[in-house]
Amino acid sequence: MTKIITKYVCQSCGYVSPRWVGKCPNCNEWNTFVEEASSPLKVSRKPSGVASKIEPVSMEELESEDVPRVTTNIDEFDRVLGGGLVPGSLILLGGDPGIGKSTLMMQVALQLKDQVVLYVTGEESVRQIKLRGERLQAKNARNILLLAETNLDLILDVIERGTPDLIIVDSIQTMYRPGLESAPGSVSQVRESTALLLRLAKTRAIPIFVIGHVTKEGVIAGPRVIEHMVDTVLQFEGEAHYAYRILRALKNRFGSTNEIGIFEMHEIGLREVKNPSEAFLSERRYGTSGSTVVASIEGTRPILIEVQALVTSTSYGVPQRNTTGFDYRRLSLLLAVLEKRVGMHLGNYDVFVNIAGGVKIDEPAVDLGIATSIASSLRDVPVDSSAVAVGEIGLGGEIRTIGNIEKRVQEAAKLGFKRIVIPENNMKGIKPNGEIQIIGVDRVEKAMEALLS
Ligand code: TYD
Ligand code: MG
Repeated sequence: MTKIITKYVCQSCGYVSPRWVGKCPNCNEWNTFVEEASSPLKVSRKPSGVASKIEPVSMEELESEDVPRVTTNIDEFDRVLGGGLVPGSLILLGGDPGIGKSTLMMQVALQLKDQVVLYVTGEESVRQIKLRGERLQAKNARNILLLAETNLDLILDVIERGTPDLIIVDSIQTMYRPGLESAPGSVSQVRESTALLLRLAKTRAIPIFVIGHVTKEGVIAGPRVIEHMVDTVLQFEGEAHYAYRILRALKNRFGSTNEIGIFEMHEIGLREVKNPSEAFLSERRYGTSGSTVVASIEGTRPILIEVQALVTSTSYGVPQRNTTGFDYRRLSLLLAVLEKRVGMHLGNYDVFVNIAGGVKIDEPAVDLGIATSIASSLRDVPVDSSAVAVGEIGLGGEIRTIGNIEKRVQEAAKLGFKRIVIPENNMKGIKPNGEIQIIGVDRVEKAMEALLS
């Protein structure tokens, strides 16, 4: 085994030191030194006169080719990848512990029946993986090879001997290279391991999935440090107590980062949610105050979601403001606008806002729905249950233009809603839709008039 020579590099200024130091002698920053492997290759310039074989190519002459893709047979997953797996791509799948990363990867492996999948596990034993497979009711898992190992050099050995079509590494934080002194999970180990896997993916044209736990500023290096090295960064998110899971592409060299995939966690694994709007509205109660349906754009798809508010008088002390799935500061801003521009006095009330289904929305187009729910709960008057509301609220109480209006209107019409309240300025470009009445509003008060009868 060859020992890897390491150096310590200041992450702030790049100063190199042979051993660890607390304070950088160059930029005077503290605790910035991280162990890195010295490159084993000596870069030397060729003696002049010897012609090099490498040549640049003309961009004009380069033929464009379609990237061949392997479909995983899971539509929601393929969509997020940009249409399937690209050979030789290195993909990072990040997410909180327990969200379902291993389950998702196992389901992908099970779907790729005619491909040899090597599942490297550093977290669980092969028995545990087998148990998960059984829970997923895997019938034919002959294509999956399990390897419980964390020493990457040994893993590479196994890969050299076999020819897997796909490799899954669960998780990158447990992998280590024996030549490096630092512990598995440290920045240098995570980075070195990823670099090795990257070379493997590119030279052998094998797609590799790397699972990484996202920790909140913990001791273990988060997968953030390798985001720039990989081709695609996927994030699996959701609230632990809810069944819905959303897969997002945060970075994708082979597709758009706008697409999301929606899944639901069941007893027997993840199930694709083909009709998100229907799913998210399925538990809606009619006739209760404080609930508005909004049309949000998630990725490139419109999704109808119920936003709820509860406004109650403060029994003691400072009024509470609480949000689930919505930005807390945005709520404060909306409350200030309602107070100042609409004359709604909320100073002695607790306000709770919840996006149903455990989904997170950070799109300003839901502002109007939130404001309407708050007003509805305060007055205890239900919002018209056959209506959808969309619009961003400005500091002056004006309703501002939003994007993708056609898609939102169509989705609301598709699900049988009778009316949709949209920003006045969005009315210009829009074609009348026979199925749904479109109402343009320019101020919050007007929207309230239309929605709260
Ligand atoms: P897991 O894939 O192990 O999460 P991660 O790899 O992201 O840490 O799954 C975590 C949770 O999912 C666990 O609490 C059990 C639950 N689960 C189900 O509800 N149904 C299933 O079929 C499986 C396999 C797991
Ligand atoms: Mg796991």
